Amino acid sequence: MAAVLLAAGCGAIPGSVTSVDDVAFDQRLAIPPLAESEVVDGVRTFSLTAQEGTTSFAPAIDGETETWGFDGAHLGPTLRAERGERVAVDVANDLGEATSVHWHGMHLPAAMDGGPHQEIEPGGTWHPTWEIDQAGATLWYHPHPHGETEEHVYRGLAGMFILDDDATRAADLPSEYGVDDVPVIVQDKVFDDEGQLELTDDGGEPGTLGSVVMANGTVGAYQEVTTERVRLRLLNGSTARSYTFGFPDRPFDLVATDGGLLEAPLELDHVRLAPGERAEVVVEMEPGETTRLASTDTDLGSVAAPFAMGGNDAFDVLELRAAGELAPSPEPAWEPSRHAEADALDPAAATVTRTFELDERRINGERMDMGRIDEVATVGDTEVWEVRSTVPMPHSFHVHDVQFRVLSIDGDAPPPELAALKDTVYLEPRRTYRLLLRFEDYTDEAVPYMYHCHMLRHEDEGMMGQFLVVAPGSEARPGPVRGSH
Ligand code: C2O
Ligand code: CU
Ligand code: CU
Repeated sequence: MAAVLLAAGCGAIPGSVTSVDDVAFDQRLAIPPLAESEVVDGVRTFSLTAQEGTTSFAPAIDGETETWGFDGAHLGPTLRAERGERVAVDVANDLGEATSVHWHGMHLPAAMDGGPHQEIEPGGTWHPTWEIDQAGATLWYHPHPHGETEEHVYRGLAGMFILDDDATRAADLPSEYGVDDVPVIVQDKVFDDEGQLELTDDGGEPGTLGSVVMANGTVGAYQEVTTERVRLRLLNGSTARSYTFGFPDRPFDLVATDGGLLEAPLELDHVRLAPGERAEVVVEMEPGETTRLASTDTDLGSVAAPFAMGGNDAFDVLELRAAGELAPSPEPAWEPSRHAEADALDPAAATVTRTFELDERRINGERMDMGRIDEVATVGDTEVWEVRSTVPMPHSFHVHDVQFRVLSIDGDAPPPELAALKDTVYLEPRRTYRLLLRFEDYTDEAVPYMYHCHMLRHEDEGMMGQFLVVAPGSEARPGPVRGSH
């Protein structure tokens, strides 16, 4: 099967590739360093500089590849903060073009969100600050410049932002960063003959599907495991590809999704992640053995030509090599956070329903316009968003500022892996996803948040809309942005 696919060649069936037996897994997994921070007047302050550089992806790729990164040539450090803390980030842009830094999954004021309205000119700086007030979770950050997000992320601008709270701190979960609590940013790339990153722009759907899959920028990565259990914080940081992660020889426990912990560990064989989604999984090892995190056949739903959308592709991503002796790890377990009740979303409280229909590039018949507000929500309101892809192609729906609950899919309860908080969800074509969300704390009459497809080509080409969160009684209405050009 694999041989047939290989013989058919990537040229014959774009995107239909397999690297399961292609790569020697002999490169130590790069672990993004934890970002340093300083607490100044009670504010935990980080700094990030977007810059250009070169990276060696040897031995998979010869020579030096031009890449972009934060505080380095590729990807960025892991930021980490605690619920209740006030944070600030001194962001500098040393690129030759404007960029922005968006805090994906973060609840924060719209002006701090880092979307297309907060672009930073070349040589410029930006100083967002906000208070962390949400459940412990694996979030991430990446650029969001208008129409250029795909390229900026693809060149390497992305990093994790881990939040801790009372529940994640006290949980019986592997938690030594880089040792048994391992960030795994999965991205696929295309390299040209000179070893440079290629962003295929042939109008093909669903965007660039690469045959080289890397974890934290390492191709053919292995991680030495020294404990009985290891927790992987999986982030699909790819621009277009959805994955189905699992291990060929064992199940794992899903412990958290985008917005935080599940109610209890959920044993699964695999979990599908669309671009932008995260999953924390805990896997058990025996002394001396190895296994590999892999992505195999991804069920994209009723997509036309799944082979062309990467649905048939298979990749090994990361080899886990257990030492001869393993330190004991507790069985995964945790108690709810003391914030759990306040955080909970109540479907009975929903007072507003909105519908969002996605076609090839439009949402509700419109393409993104920075000068147009599409929706206006009132702070304090709980809403239901009914989201549906009307076309047989993959979409990954993301909402800024909030973590939502998937109430139902075509009227049925969602599968258990979609039961916890989410900020991004894969939309199987022609199914209706009812999302429950609540807008809290922050209002702004002028600066909007975004909702969009997280397949970045789709987003850049207009599959995005803007919403304001305003105070009760506000006169703000959908339409042209106030004071916009
Ligand atoms: Cu991760 Cu609006 O994006
Ligand atoms: Cu986001
Ligand atoms: Cu899309």
